[in-house]
Amino acid sequence: MSALTELYKGIELCQRCEIAKFRNNVVPGEGAEDAEILFIGEAPGYHEDQQGRPFVGPAGKFLDELLASINLDRQQVYIANVIKCRPTGNRDPLPVEIRNCQEWLERQIEIISPKMIVTLGRYSMSMFFPGKSIGKIHGTAQKQGDVIYFAMYHPAAALHQQSLRQVIEADMLKIPSLLAQEKEIVETEPEPEQLKMFDM
Ligand code: URA
Repeated sequence: MSALTELYKGIELCQRCEIAKFRNNVVPGEGAEDAEILFIGEAPGYHEDQQGRPFVGPAGKFLDELLASINLDRQQVYIANVIKCRPTGNRDPLPVEIRNCQEWLERQIEIISPKMIVTLGRYSMSMFFPGKSIGKIHGTAQKQGDVIYFAMYHPAAALHQQSLRQVIEADMLKIPSLLAQEKEIVETEPEPEQLKMFDM
């Protein structure tokens, strides 16, 4: 059994939050266990809770289009959320829910060991870019250790505010060159730590 499948079993049994009682399905995440890019959204919504899969509603349709714009599909990346259960009434996740669920996300990051983590929206951004504002840092990348962190608006933002659609599309198009630059750096200036990352 793969490490992620094993982890899903733990997530499915998790009852740390009140919202676990109301879920139809837990939504652990999906995609390639060895994905180079890990996208992290906020929380499952109605459709995700019904199907047990991340980003399968209208925001997910836009995410699929964004992935296609850089010649990727969801089987080639990994898509997760900050929290794995749908907050009741579609409210924002509570700090306690984010804390309770953090262990699952950390394990996913450990197992997948992505080269790039793309934060979708404020909640995942604030885990990796604490104190920053999405309006200021969307479309920018930071490297910490071996991982590139790239902040984007949540795809649902484009559904509420049409003017953000082009901003989100333009930010997505930056991803391939950020990953390519990274490879170039490693090829030209191999550091022992970086080599380890790309040898995996
Ligand atoms: N919004 C999210 O943040 N995640 C989903 O899975 C769906 C919508």
